[in-house]
Amino acid sequence: MDNYDTLFIGYPNWWGDMPMIIYNFLERYNLSGKTIVPFCTHGGSGLSNTESTIADITEGKMKDGFAIPGTTAQNDRDTARNNVTDWLREDGFIE
Ligand SMILES: Cc1cc2nc3c(=O)[nH]c(=O)nc-3n(C[C@H](O)[C@H](O)[C@H](O)COP(=O)(O)O)c2cc1C
Repeated sequence: MDNYDTLFIGYPNWWGDMPMIIYNFLERYNLSGKTIVPFCTHGGSGLSNTESTIADITEGKMKDGFAIPGTTAQNDRDTARNNVTDWLREDGFIE
């Protein structure tokens, strides 16, 4: 983990929360000071409160997260690609 400054952490929104394996990951490493970029698929709830949950656990530097309906991600690749590109641009990862 020492080799990484920025982590993109992706998960499905389950019950307004993250799957337990994401908690295992976040608690397994010292991510304090890392740049953390959350993204999720969902069925209508967006990111819920997962960004602040990740911030509380990791004390990382949070970038604005990204949420996309699972159906869009699966069935409308053009829209998904555009939305992802816009988000990465807004977060400063691409020009
Ligand atoms: C157990 C379970 C709980 C879920 N809870 C939520 C929820 O609270 N809010 C929401 O927007 N979507 C919820 N969903 C929908 C998932 O976020 C959605 O199916 C997933 O992001 C799409 O990825 P998949 O194709 O792997 O299922 C839930 C799905 C499952 C299976």
